[in-house]
Amino acid sequence: MRAALTALTDELKRLKSTGVTSVPVSAESIAALRKVMAARAGKSPEQQPPQAAVRETVTPVSASAPAPVRPQPVAPKPKPEAARLLPPPPVVALPDGDKAARWAWLRDLVLNHPVCVANVRPGKKVVLGVGSLEAKIMFVGEAPGAEEEVRGEPFVGPAGQLLTKMILAMGVKREDVYIGNIMNWRPQLPTPAGVEQVGNREPTPEEMAFCLPFLRAQIEIVNPDLIVAAGATAAKGLLGAGAFKTLGEVRGQWKQFSGKPVLVTYHPSYLLRQEASGPVAARKAKRATWEDLLKVMERAGLTISEKQRGYFLEK
Ligand code: URA
Repeated sequence: MRAALTALTDELKRLKSTGVTSVPVSAESIAALRKVMAARAGKSPEQQPPQAAVRETVTPVSASAPAPVRPQPVAPKPKPEAARLLPPPPVVALPDGDKAARWAWLRDLVLNHPVCVANVRPGKKVVLGVGSLEAKIMFVGEAPGAEEEVRGEPFVGPAGQLLTKMILAMGVKREDVYIGNIMNWRPQLPTPAGVEQVGNREPTPEEMAFCLPFLRAQIEIVNPDLIVAAGATAAKGLLGAGAFKTLGEVRGQWKQFSGKPVLVTYHPSYLLRQEASGPVAARKAKRATWEDLLKVMERAGLTISEKQRGYFLEK
């Protein structure tokens, strides 16, 4: 039992370090934890303070479960209304087999996963990564948007079209890289019944933690030489929310995830937004991103022409 409690504490610490502030726990589990703690302290479970074992990182699944109340010194950040309570992240144990068979198994798991399915609106799709299973380079973005949840493919809307151009500028075809996301569903915003969602929201830490095992599994299958994290959410998902305060602290630097080098760069949506700020801002952001991609090309052993080196430089 001691080992189980240590493992539980370690897992809670790990989740906390990735930015997770609460995990759902059933009323039965809380009761069982109380019993264990009471036995260790030589008290009956009723005498045991409710938070002794699980602290404030744990929230009950059902509103009717006995709430482990302890006054919170700081009011918790309100959750987006549409973010649901999620169960703990799934454990994904890939089967043996070749890459195609393992990827097909994972695709089936993710697209039919009850939690993923419950988080997409009727008629919309859960989205897994796409691309070459032999890719040397894997791009990781944030979450599907409006077009992606309709087509069931990442990066097919305006940001995706820009990403495709960036990949082509590197001298690589889109189908020769692998493109995935931190999230497998479009984070929902409350909308009146029958009305399409307009706009996107950032995924919550709980949502990101839930989908992360699916991304890890894709990395395990594809086994790319390196990963490009596009934008702050991808960087938070891969490096942990505590790894940086502003994207500028990590952008353009090599980091690690799952034993793979990760380069953080701007998200194509940011580049599109910079277009609206005028030509100077747009060129500066594009050049900074391009310099990151030149680092990626160098590390991936791609040939770089002089013309490519000069893209987006001031004339
Ligand atoms: N933005 C992302 O981060 N991912 C997508 O799939 C589309 C837009």
